[in-house]
Amino acid sequence: MPEEDAVFAVKRDVRGRVAENVPAGRGFFRMRLLAPELAGAFRPGQFFQLRPRPVREAPFLRRPFAPSSHEPDGFSFFYAVVGKGTRLLAELPAGTAVDILAPLGNAYSRPPAGGAALLIGGGAGAPGLVPLAEQLRSGGVRTILALGARTAEAIPRHPGFASVPDRLLVATDDGGRGFRGTVLAAIRDDRDNLLRQAPRLYACGPVPMLAAAAELAAERGLACEVSLEERMACGFGACLGCVAPILDAGGGNSLRRICRDGPVFDASRVDWGALAARR
Ligand SMILES: Cc1cc2nc3c(=O)[nH]c(=O)nc-3n(C[C@H](O)[C@H](O)[C@H](O)COP(=O)(O)OP(=O)(O)OC[C@H]3O[C@@H](n4cnc5c(N)ncnc54)[C@H](O)[C@@H]3O)c2cc1C
Ligand code: FES
Repeated sequence: MPEEDAVFAVKRDVRGRVAENVPAGRGFFRMRLLAPELAGAFRPGQFFQLRPRPVREAPFLRRPFAPSSHEPDGFSFFYAVVGKGTRLLAELPAGTAVDILAPLGNAYSRPPAGGAALLIGGGAGAPGLVPLAEQLRSGGVRTILALGARTAEAIPRHPGFASVPDRLLVATDDGGRGFRGTVLAAIRDDRDNLLRQAPRLYACGPVPMLAAAAELAAERGLACEVSLEERMACGFGACLGCVAPILDAGGGNSLRRICRDGPVFDASRVDWGALAARR
């Protein structure tokens, strides 16, 4: 289950610098950040909060993102341009200073060597699964990555999608690449029976996709962890701006902070109906 109680690197407030910021798929950019203090400091599932310097529009809250690769002098991430903050990010030239608060949140759990895992990614959530795929494979876990997107062009261009997992399955809504339909429909349809091969699921992407992964895992009695990428403010548990309904043992639910108690949760403990109703 998610690594809630593990000892993680202490979060740090670091001044980094943009090394590269380039288009990387329709609606996506990839940013490489130089931040040697944070190199290797993340576990897959954790995230960082970022804000460019100087802050041009105050109050400008930091925005959360998940690293998509580790580099010796920092890390990269992919981002979808959806609003004010990400539009601003897309304009940043190389050399811009950025405040980075990291690492934040818990991490995906590590299954024992010799097992297999199916990673399910949708939209902007997919690139952050590549470091998880790397960690799992280096730990002797066979890794299958299933990607879903609206069209082929809307798949973020991460080279690790093809090179890191043992197997890649792609689904697009319009059938422009791979299976025609949702990624969950592709998994259910797969003739090689991915689910029999991979008794553990990890998912990151839009809430309907996560809820469908949780439903599939419950039907088949499989373990499933999901990363909830909801809106955030502080990012470290102080403002209660990011709560999600999580079921407790008695069947009731309590609001838990995604930034501090998550973002990774056991899918069977998320109250999906209540979460959808809050949006
Ligand atoms: C742990 C975590 C990791 C994340 N990793 C990534 C990543 O690697 N790449 C990436 O592209 N995005 C990621 N996100 C989402 C990203 O933080 C938001 O898209 C971003 O903050 C939007 O900022 P904005 O100012 O451009 O949008 P805003 O102007 O704040 O909002 C624009 C629109 O986007 C919607 N929106 C904003 N944030 C979210 C969200 N989190 N989920 C769904 N809708 C949202 C708003 O409701 C609004 O409709 C992550 C979020 C979390 C919590
Ligand atoms: S964003 Fe402030 S408590 Fe989570």
